[in-house]
Amino acid sequence: MQKSWYKEMAVYQVWPRSFCDGNGDGIGDLKGVLGKLDYIKSLGVDAIWFSPLYKSPQKDYGYDIADYRSIQPEYGTMEDFKAVLDGAHERGLRVIMDLVVNHTSDQHEWFLKGIEDPTSKYHSYYHWYKGKGKRRPNNWMSTFAGPAWEYNEKNDEYYLHLFAVEQPDLNMDNPEVRREVKDIMKFWLDMGVDGFREDVITFISKKEGLPSSPYWFPVATGIENYMHGPHLDEYLLEFKNDVLSKYDCMTVGEAPMMTTKKALKHITEGPNQHLNMMFHFEHMAADCLFYSWFKTKFSLKRLKKVFTRWQNDLYGKAWNALYMENHDQPRVINRYGSLKYRVESAKMLAVTYICQSGTPFIYQGQEIGMVNYPFTSIDQYTDVSTVNNYGVAKSLLGAEKALNLANYASRDNARTCVQWNAEKNAGFTTADEPWFWVNPNYTEINVEAAEKDPNSILNFYRKLLKFRKENEIVIYGDYKEHLKRSKDLYVYERNYEGQRLLVICSYTEKPVQFTAPAGFDLTKGECVLSNYDDTSVCTNGFTTKPYETRVYLFK
Ligand code: GLC
Ligand code: CA
Repeated sequence: MQKSWYKEMAVYQVWPRSFCDGNGDGIGDLKGVLGKLDYIKSLGVDAIWFSPLYKSPQKDYGYDIADYRSIQPEYGTMEDFKAVLDGAHERGLRVIMDLVVNHTSDQHEWFLKGIEDPTSKYHSYYHWYKGKGKRRPNNWMSTFAGPAWEYNEKNDEYYLHLFAVEQPDLNMDNPEVRREVKDIMKFWLDMGVDGFREDVITFISKKEGLPSSPYWFPVATGIENYMHGPHLDEYLLEFKNDVLSKYDCMTVGEAPMMTTKKALKHITEGPNQHLNMMFHFEHMAADCLFYSWFKTKFSLKRLKKVFTRWQNDLYGKAWNALYMENHDQPRVINRYGSLKYRVESAKMLAVTYICQSGTPFIYQGQEIGMVNYPFTSIDQYTDVSTVNNYGVAKSLLGAEKALNLANYASRDNARTCVQWNAEKNAGFTTADEPWFWVNPNYTEINVEAAEKDPNSILNFYRKLLKFRKENEIVIYGDYKEHLKRSKDLYVYERNYEGQRLLVICSYTEKPVQFTAPAGFDLTKGECVLSNYDDTSVCTNGFTTKPYETRVYLFK
């Protein structure tokens, strides 16, 4: 397995609107980020991934881009961005941009020009089709619920939008569109950015003729026609050969419904590799079917199976992208951990994924154990997918159940303001009102309080990332799972150049008797990480405390 900087780094994700407000208007911005670069660096990460900073009507908070080459005025100017880029680089932090090219905003000039003049080249930048009489061109449904087609009266035709109505899909089969994408990549790489997180990149190629689906689903009907489309390989290779390979940069592609088998076609190392890594979603479905709106009971066995499959199938061939939170996922403590044992479970969840083989991503607020917001009404939500999915859920389950589901599943849970201190608005802004909610638990859960507490989640993340950085076994070691049948414990070992690491994570508050697997003598290993002070061992094992985690290193 080849060594590389992108494999060794850890990444911190910033969702700019809620990170830190630098100019007191209630909205997070680049000035706010600039003031927090030292903080980000102090975590022990090596890169920042910015969710979209580009000019956007914010219908999907930046994932609807109106201009790929300018900064959203609410966030600052291009000069502000360059100051952040330089400031990050001076501190040894790389900068990864979000590349959103499956769709644009309906306010992008390409889209507007194509409507204005349907004979212009911009018309064919999108998927415009006549209806079948009054019927839409096919039966596809948007990922955000509702039909995937919107009617345009002026030209009497429909356009495709796999996401919000205001996010028309680009027609990637058009070579002009691919040229534009490559120009956008070059623009940012020439400025000095270090790579891209490529938004729903596995959706860019649609099956020819856009056939209707025989399967009905409340959202995303038709997904089998584009989730891994016919020309995906070709287009990704074109981007790589024409642009990416000419820079020292990295890519991580967002890939819903991805399996290891399909992923390996794109990320297997070698000349035909398309992307460095992929964000799959399988491990985010241990408490749901596909995604959190189809809630089920949490199953550790399901989670472990996915982790182990990705670790084993990729090892030595391709590289994993590791995450448990991002701007699309409710807070993981609410899902896989415990509110009662918030601190303990947050640390255990950090160990669970950061000690695996791959590049770890940490989402803003995760490092202090932020949790879901106590929403009490649908009016408090702002995310388009939440509002739409709630509508579907309400019609199927009734208002009360739909709201409970939204509280559990909504992306808005991840988008509340970062809690910096115990002062007004959690120190996120000096404005009277921040643009979005601040969790009332900020008086206790905030960065300042965590800084002062040596046992905080924050300081645990620092220790864990430092350990990873200083021990190649965590980065390059192999992986072997133990106690596969346990419903409560997740245990795995890593091996590298004669060293061994044993990782033990309890997913329950109940005491569980753990005995080390054959070949491990716990008294001979060093307990390098743990979330309780007491790490005593009895007959080569111990009885777990609630959500206990221990990591043993054997040299
Ligand atoms: C990705 C983004 C999400 C966005 C969607 C459409 O899943 O992470 O936030 O809404 O794509 O761009
Ligand atoms: Ca601001």
